[in-house]
Amino acid sequence: MELVNSSRFVRDAVNRIAAASVAAGGGPFRLSLCGGGTPREIYRALAEEDLDWKNFIITFGDERCGAPDHEQSNYRMIREALLDRVAIPEENVLRLKGEITPAKAADEYEKLLRQRAGDEVFRHDLLLLGMGEDGHTASLFPAAQVLEERDRWVVASEVTKLSAWRLTFTYPLINASRRVLFLVRGDSKRRIVEQIIHGGADCYPASGVRPEDGTLVWLLGQ
Ligand code: 6PG
Repeated sequence: MELVNSSRFVRDAVNRIAAASVAAGGGPFRLSLCGGGTPREIYRALAEEDLDWKNFIITFGDERCGAPDHEQSNYRMIREALLDRVAIPEENVLRLKGEITPAKAADEYEKLLRQRAGDEVFRHDLLLLGMGEDGHTASLFPAAQVLEERDRWVVASEVTKLSAWRLTFTYPLINASRRVLFLVRGDSKRRIVEQIIHGGADCYPASGVRPEDGTLVWLLGQ
């Protein structure tokens, strides 16, 4: 686990994503994108890079249930900031269908990943995560049942505090990644990250992100 304090947060994030894509060596680059507000400017800057976009396979670590053009949709934010501006083949953008029944959307996505993974676990080359002020990540919120999930890779979860349904990757899928990069800004979140890194912060769902055979980097910005 590495903590990187960055004074060039967006640039450092873009450089790390670009480097991971180059490390894929011309083969498929499985990249999972996180939602929320922090990554928007990172995705915008990433779209300016000259990368092997045709090799990118995009997944979404979580999604708010609702239409893909809803103002709260992670897919909409990612499409506007990145996907509409780079040449990733449409069939390589594996969208979480927030507009259909949550359980059905989760089942469909799980089946899609398992088909692509064959007999293995679906391993992302790079999985991006944000973190909320309560230590949630993806849509893994404190005290949620989904935190106990050890078999499924994608589930639908009703987030009590938001009175809303979410679709989210689970720890088994997240922790199968080759690289996990947290993108976190702000002093209040910094204190949570430091508690997580020093251990004993199991109350924060982000503390459950521990890649089994991969790297974990916390990129902290102002
Ligand atoms: C979401 C995200 C969520 C996000 C955190 C941080 O759908 O909201 O996936 O996990 O990363 O809430 O969000 P900010 O970057 O906006 O603080």
